[in-house]
Amino acid sequence: MTNIRAAITGVGGYVPEYILTNKELEKLVDTTDEWITSRTGIKERRILKGENMGTSYMGTQAALEIIKKNNIDPKEIDLVICATITPDMPFPATANLIATEIGAVNAFSYDLAAACSGFIFGLVTGAKFIESGTYKKVLVIGGDKMSSIINYKDRTTCIIFGDGAGAVLLEPTTENFGVMDSILRSDGNGVNFLNMPAGGSRKPATHETIDANQHYVFQEGSTVYKFAVTNMAEVSAQIMDKNNLKADDIAWLAPHQANKRIIDATSGRMGISDEKVMMNIEKYGNTTAGTIPLLLWDYEKQLKKGDNIIIAAFGGGFTWGAVWVKWAYNA
Ligand code: UT7
Repeated sequence: MTNIRAAITGVGGYVPEYILTNKELEKLVDTTDEWITSRTGIKERRILKGENMGTSYMGTQAALEIIKKNNIDPKEIDLVICATITPDMPFPATANLIATEIGAVNAFSYDLAAACSGFIFGLVTGAKFIESGTYKKVLVIGGDKMSSIINYKDRTTCIIFGDGAGAVLLEPTTENFGVMDSILRSDGNGVNFLNMPAGGSRKPATHETIDANQHYVFQEGSTVYKFAVTNMAEVSAQIMDKNNLKADDIAWLAPHQANKRIIDATSGRMGISDEKVMMNIEKYGNTTAGTIPLLLWDYEKQLKKGDNIIIAAFGGGFTWGAVWVKWAYNA
């Protein structure tokens, strides 16, 4: 039997027009451009403005870019997965809304929630449907409208997050390209350090939860930082060891964009030099499930067929993991 792999055959992305700069944040909270830049590497982030504008809008734009670039008929799309923790509504799934907007009338669709690791969890899940021979066109979207759950009076979180979405198309190949291997992990003990306390079934919205600011992201930053540094670096080194990949074999590291210092620790542990590290944190901040597809979108023109890419993420849950992708096309 011929081995089928899931190749990434297209990338799309969308970031909102509005730019929230560090200078502007200086007016909202007690912070400085210097503090934010030196502690995180972020200079600005995008914010989705406008009534009734949710994550589905951004995901739709990213998906439409792929449909146009790859000249595909949306009716041929079999499955749409949207990784997000900021769905338009608790239900129906944001993926359903996107599938309908893009005309993927023959697809089934669902959301996947794994916070900042959402895109890689979705990528691996989508790849399995291709590898099994079940489907031929799977869209994996990662995106978040973090501004909808951020308290712009909390300087420990509002400086980090931004809005954006990206998408990839997965198609079968019998060549040695595509999603090659992955290690995915989660640990529910992380709930205490990074969460949104209310608005779920445990604590539905009340006047009290709103007054207590419980519909915003809560993060114990320094604890999350320590777990992120350790786990993202470790899992990235693990996937290299498991597949006997040396630093010289790796063309690119595509790390979740949460903090430049976490990224530097990860690349350092892998022995990967800075010029091989994809980075756009300075202009988009942390878009949660959006960071990795937005990296692939920004770097697409520089990627070459056969490039070994290690994608790594860490996020709320905790969730983390690394994926080895062999790039399948020249842009
Ligand atoms: O993507 C999902 C996973 N999330 C992450 O990976 C985020 C991980 N965490 C981080 O990136 C960092 O912990 C932060 C960027 C959130 C914070 O940086 P830090 O170097 O860990 O700072 P800290 O929380 O240890 O705080 C150090 C000091 C504190 O002041 P004191 O107590 O030493 O007087 C904070 O109150 O910095 C203060 N501080 C700020 N000062 C100016 C915290 N936020 C700010 C701010 N501006 N925005």
